[in-house]
This record gives sequence, structure tokens and C-alpha cells, in this order.
Amino acid sequence: MSEKKWTTFNSAGSRRVVVTKELPGKRWLEILTQADCQIVICTSPDILTVDEIKTAIRDRCDGAIGQLTEDWGADLFQALKASGAKAYSNYAVGYNNVDLAAATQQGIPVGNTPGVLTETTAEMAVCLTFAAARRVVESDIFMRQGRFHGWLPKLFLGELLRGKTVGVIGAGRIGSAYARMMVEGHKLNLIYYNRSQNKRIEDFVAAYGEFLKGRGEEPVTCRCAENVEELLREADVVSLHTVLDETTHHLINAERLSLMKENAILVNTGRGPVIDENALVAHCQKHPDFRAALDVFEDEPEMKPGLKDLDNVVIVPHIASATSWTREGMAILAASNVAGILMGYPAWQNPNILPFLGNEPPQAAPSILNAEELDIPLYME
Ligand code: DGY
Repeated sequence: MSEKKWTTFNSAGSRRVVVTKELPGKRWLEILTQADCQIVICTSPDILTVDEIKTAIRDRCDGAIGQLTEDWGADLFQALKASGAKAYSNYAVGYNNVDLAAATQQGIPVGNTPGVLTETTAEMAVCLTFAAARRVVESDIFMRQGRFHGWLPKLFLGELLRGKTVGVIGAGRIGSAYARMMVEGHKLNLIYYNRSQNKRIEDFVAAYGEFLKGRGEEPVTCRCAENVEELLREADVVSLHTVLDETTHHLINAERLSLMKENAILVNTGRGPVIDENALVAHCQKHPDFRAALDVFEDEPEMKPGLKDLDNVVIVPHIASATSWTREGMAILAASNVAGILMGYPAWQNPNILPFLGNEPPQAAPSILNAEELDIPLYME
């Protein structure tokens, strides 16, 4: 493996913060600079190993910002503790790559970056849904290959989604935003499965249904499924928005795929291992009218054998949150998490983190996952 390259920003800073990838925008650098940090940044795109990160932490490090591609487990939190570090932030909303218990045991606050990915990721899930339903990638390749010789009645027939049923597994922030886009924008009925009832989305769909009825249109409906199986049987489109943990690993397996409609669409913008990818490949090979659209993969960045050869699968490289606004926002939040803790600020409690993107950000750390366990004072508005 090639030697990784590092650069230092604001070398005069008295605190040392290690950042394992270059982040977009400038504001995050200003935030850490204002907190008197020198910022040591890895400029190589390759994924860092635990040992490479440990080498960067050295025997002196006050905080770190890491990536979802790295294994932030007991080993790294011990190394951070030994180096005197006081804070870590994941540059992601998801934190399945972080051993939160190990961090808490070492007394290290862990931040993440919620609130700026919601609409962006939901928009990408919508985009993948329609790319799969209307066979956009297959058609694009067909055009580039010079195979279009004129309009044909049966060329690339896809699925009309209006009036069909969208199933959302995991109706949290992103799942709800996706559900709204599909219901409001494209008039699909909603069935969702979630750990708890989502009254907000139910009320929204009910009110929107009334609105449509009042205009003489077919109303949309919403239902909370008793279990995943019920949703899979009923939905024409299924979009996955769960966290990844032991309860959701291979949530979609061969048995559950077999419950889905032959021409259903399965979208995943959450985490790859929620789907048994080998089972998905076999299912798509056997059912050419079934479609999948994946932003995330079980062994990311690798794909299971056969996946990339399937015409009925759309694949993109984990870019659901990739807009400049979101990725710069994530950088601001990650930097504010680390700077906030180093400055001794309290932990922000409000799910609305947008004030941190403004000109007068609150004196708080925006999203600290183990604030309660570590007795970090809470921000009082
Ligand atoms: C996250 O933040 O968890 C996303 O997967 C990044 O796109």
C-alpha cells in the first residue's frame, strides 16, 4: 500500500486535530482555527488503516475527525485517550463504524453530522427509484453504444409509479423525507415499517389525501405495517432507511426477497449489509423484471460477484449525500463537534442544527452521541 500524504493547516495552533480526509469547503477549517487548532489532514484518497491513523495520532492529539470507511474501535479510542485527545467526530450521520461504548469507556465524546443529509439523501433515493423504474442507465448505455435506430413501441418499457405503493423501512428523518417526496410529488400510497409509529408522516399523508380528494383526485393513503414481511408483499417500491446494527444486518435476505412482487423495485441508500447482496444478485438474475438501485454495498467498495453484470440493477458509489451544501455542512458540524468539546461548550439538544451553518453559530457542540453518558452539560436555549 502506498505511503499516505498529510498536510498541516494553521501550524501555529496550540491544539492538534487529526482529520483523516480532506473535507469540502473552508468554514470547517476556520472553526478549528478559531479554536486554536493546528489541523493535520490526510490528502490521500485511499482508506486509512487503524495503524496509519494511530501513527497520525502520535503521542499528542487533542481531537480527530474520521470517516465512515474507517474502523473507529477500542484500539483507536485507546490511542486517542493515550494521546490526550478529548473529542472525536465521525464525518457522517451514520456511526456503525464507531464503537460508541469503547469511546465512552475512554471518556471520549463522539459526534456525528445529522440534519444536513436528510433532503439530499432522500432526493437521491427518489432519483434511484425512478432510474430503476424507467431503466435510465440501461437506456443511456444503449444510446452511447449507438444502438438507437428510431422510436419503437416496446423499447425499454418500465414501470409507472403513480398510484402504486411505496414501502419505507425505517421512517426516521431520511425515510420520512423520501416518503413525503414519493407521496406528495408522485402520488404513491405509503406503507411503512418502523420501530415506533410515525404519527407525523401519517398525519401528513392523511391531510394530503384530503387535499387531493377536495380537488377531485384519487386520495393517497398511509399504513404502518405490522412487520417487514407485510410491507414487502404489498409494496411496489421498497426503500431502505434503517440504521445498520445486529437487528438489521441482512434484513433483506433470500426469503424476504421471495415475498416481493416480481416487478418490485428495491432501493438502498442506507448501509450495504442491510441487504444480503449475494441473495440479491441471485434474485435479480432469476427475475429480470425485478429492479434494484443501490448506493451502498455489503463489502464496500467491493461488489458481490455478478452484481455489476445485471441490467436490472442501478449502482452508484455511495453518493446519496453528495451535494456541496450537504458535504460542506457535514464538515462544519464535524469541526464544530470537535471544536465545541475542546472549547468546553455544552452539547446542543435541538434536532434543528441549521443555526450551526449560519453566521452566528451557537456556542455548543452540535451533535454528541454520548453526551448523556459522559455527563456533558446540555445547551440551554
Ligand atoms: C452518512 O453520513 O452516514 C452517509 O452514509 C454518508 O453519505
